[in-house]
Amino acid sequence: MAEASPMNYYTDGWPLIVDMCPCDVHFTDWLEDQKIRDSAIFHFGTGTHHHVGITCAENGSNNSVFGITASVQEIEAYTKLAIDKPKVSRKYKAIFGDIYLLDEKLLPEFEAVSLFHLCEFWGPESAAYGAMTDRQMLDLMTRKTKPGGRILFYMKSMAFERAEKIIAEWSKEMPVEKEGEFKTLLVYRKKG
Ligand SMILES: C[S@@+](CC[C@H](N)C(=O)[O-])C[C@H]1O[C@@H](n2cnc3c(N)ncnc32)[C@H](O)[C@@H]1O
Repeated sequence: MAEASPMNYYTDGWPLIVDMCPCDVHFTDWLEDQKIRDSAIFHFGTGTHHHVGITCAENGSNNSVFGITASVQEIEAYTKLAIDKPKVSRKYKAIFGDIYLLDEKLLPEFEAVSLFHLCEFWGPESAAYGAMTDRQMLDLMTRKTKPGGRILFYMKSMAFERAEKIIAEWSKEMPVEKEGEFKTLLVYRKKG
């Protein structure tokens, strides 16, 4: 009997390298620029640095962040953070898991959803264990975005060429509209 495929996890940990990958810093800049406060924020790809969660917990915005990582090192860094800084973990929760296995029933609705790594990590092994596709995950997160809430993409993502095609189809079929661009980020708004 064939063995079940293991989870398609991220075998590294990603430090904050703003020159190479500024998306998380641009995201917190955008939240500040938009004066987003008291909001629920979903963040795909925490990094070992956990910049988005920590910044929101410490900058007085009262934003709450739900982050997901598929990296053992990154979730270990979060565990240490939660132990060392319980005040941060009150506003910032990170889970280990495959975003393509999220369970809709377990998610609240968010005012802002970052999907910077759309199309970067999905592989045939994901399909082998019944994971959602990029488009299915994008649709799920759109349902989990509050009307008037925003969904953000990263235009410098290594997979943006592929992501762009999915975003184009999605924007025709789902109740969303392009709001604009901010630094390296592409911002959509959910109608309603
Ligand atoms: C290149 S790192 C970028 C981290 C951070 N956003 C930054 O720019 O500094 C990619 C991130 O995506 C996460 N990731 C990769 N595949 C994933 C998956 N299937 N589900 C959830 N997170 C995943 C990794 O754990 C990692 O945090």
